[in-house]
Amino acid sequence: MDLTERLKACGQEHLLNTEGLTKEERAQYLAELSSVDLTVPSVLGSKRPPRGKIGPISGLSAQKIKERYAQFYEEGEKAIRAGKVAAVLLAGGQGTRLGFDGPKGTFNMGTKRRPRYIFELLIENLLEVCKRCGAFIPLLIMTSEKNDGATRGFLEEHAYFGYPADHIRFFVQEMYPCADENGKILLEAKGKLALSPNGNGGWFSSLKRAGVAKDFPAVEWYNVFGVDNVLQKIADPAFVGATILSGAPCGAKYVRKKRWKERVGVLCLEDGAPSVIEYYELPEELAKARGERGELLYSFGMTLNYLFSARLLDEISSARIPVHAVKKVVPYLGGNGETVVPKKPNGYKFETLILDMVRLAGACLPYEAVRSEEFAPVKNKRGRDSVSSAKRMLWMQGKL
Ligand code: UTP
Repeated sequence: MDLTERLKACGQEHLLNTEGLTKEERAQYLAELSSVDLTVPSVLGSKRPPRGKIGPISGLSAQKIKERYAQFYEEGEKAIRAGKVAAVLLAGGQGTRLGFDGPKGTFNMGTKRRPRYIFELLIENLLEVCKRCGAFIPLLIMTSEKNDGATRGFLEEHAYFGYPADHIRFFVQEMYPCADENGKILLEAKGKLALSPNGNGGWFSSLKRAGVAKDFPAVEWYNVFGVDNVLQKIADPAFVGATILSGAPCGAKYVRKKRWKERVGVLCLEDGAPSVIEYYELPEELAKARGERGELLYSFGMTLNYLFSARLLDEISSARIPVHAVKKVVPYLGGNGETVVPKKPNGYKFETLILDMVRLAGACLPYEAVRSEEFAPVKNKRGRDSVSSAKRMLWMQGKL
């Protein structure tokens, strides 16, 4: 199907108007149009299927992990040594809540005199594992068009904090078009689509598209993690080993929720299969539900640290990860040719979420991480999950 037919098929033929563009601008615009998924706004017209029956899930508790730690560790170490494990850092987010002008990984958790950047802390954690296992783990860093240059520049300037550059690859996440309230794709300026990063669920298709996976053909497992949690263990051999031994194609590190209201996605069973439900989607009576010993029944808080088998990912990429529409402010091309930045949300941005991959996996090993040792998210400027709470935890673990 050519571009005109494709645009007509998805009701976006208004984008065919190239009036006023020079030959060069027109060519650029058409190339952009051809490179994005124009069908994405169709989710606005389709109702999301209702949630299935939710039930609590059981997992590998910290106590059970302790009992089999040596066995898990040995299995994971073997896989790492054989080059079967890659680490994928999701660093394409915009970090709006932190309100820091730069990629979140370049944020300094230390002092001016003794800087401790988020990227530095994460790489340090990974280097520790590499040293113990005697092998470098491919580190694949996902950026977005908005922060790619700044991320690469920063890491290069800091000599990748000691990580060998030939074991690092960058790839840029794909963009989705933004639409108005009627699902019509918006232009941001003349000859320029309004685009936004496609969320953290697009990491595998972006990695494939960038051809990065080909550089590490031995990789069978991807440990995917967010940039926010400065205390997390990356490519944790025991987690890798436990997931491999479980036979599941996916593992998820959880921490026990502190309060029923805590704003973290929760791992549970949905129609009998593991699934992650965002905190705003979990009905209050379930969030508050307690078991016989008074424990929260839905308490497996997700830390955004998953392990996925490469084989599973190939299957998932052909099945479609659900696209979520989020109402936001979308700058658009106004009648007089200027870009208008509205004060109130005027349209939709679209994104896929990594947590939806768990449902598509069919099976997943929930693996407990000890909160005080492995969970210090930097999401907000102040208060909960903020720079100061994370600093305190880093300090308590002797990392500041
Ligand atoms: P968040 O959901 O916290 O989003 O991302 P964010 O954009 O970083 O922050 P806010 O919501 O604007 O404050 C969780 C993880 O997913 C990555 C982020 O970089 C972070 O590691 N992410 C998020 C991407 O890589 N791409 C995206 O499009 C969104």
